Amino acid sequence: MDNIRSIAIPPLTDDLVRVLIDAETIQRRVAELAQQINKDYADITEPLILVGVLKGSFIYLADLSRKLTVPHVIDFIAVSSYGKGTVSSGNVRLLMDTRENLEHHHVLIVEDILDSGYTLDYLVRYFKARGTKSVQTTVLLEKPDRHVVPVDLAYVGFTIPDVWVVGYGLDYAEKYRTLPYIAELKPQV
Ligand code: PRP
Repeated sequence: MDNIRSIAIPPLTDDLVRVLIDAETIQRRVAELAQQINKDYADITEPLILVGVLKGSFIYLADLSRKLTVPHVIDFIAVSSYGKGTVSSGNVRLLMDTRENLEHHHVLIVEDILDSGYTLDYLVRYFKARGTKSVQTTVLLEKPDRHVVPVDLAYVGFTIPDVWVVGYGLDYAEKYRTLPYIAELKPQV
């Protein structure tokens, strides 16, 4: 425990305004979500398939999965949204498919953030069309002000305002993904 406490938390750089959600709060919330998932899937007969959406979900998926006691399998999928930026286009393209055969399995899609909702809406429909038993979603963060398409979210970590955030998997131009906290990026960056 002492070793864990002595790990230095990286300080904010000039690009960042403030820490929005600190590392301890994230860990506590992830543990709560895992507990709920363990309860909800307690009776499944086949392992739950956790599908992390690359790249942003990799840290959330790693922390969440290590707190799960229900049998589970880890998989990944990669998509890209053409024209992403200030306005999301809704044009989602599959870049890399899952390795597992999802048929007859319960699937939990693991995302770092829900913004417009286009990515999750596409993935939920895509997985449902593959003969899965059920498809649910978990997002660490959601920005209600940015929703364009409605998506059913089963497990939400935090609801945040419409600011650009980085850390805990989320990047700005591939930077800041490994920060242990969620920080707000300066608007001018
Ligand atoms: C982010 C995030 C989600 C998506 C959410 O991915 O990880 O997948 O955007 O946005 P939406 O709700 O508007 O569809 P991004 O395209 O930044 O790629 P990355 O995960 O590889 O960083």
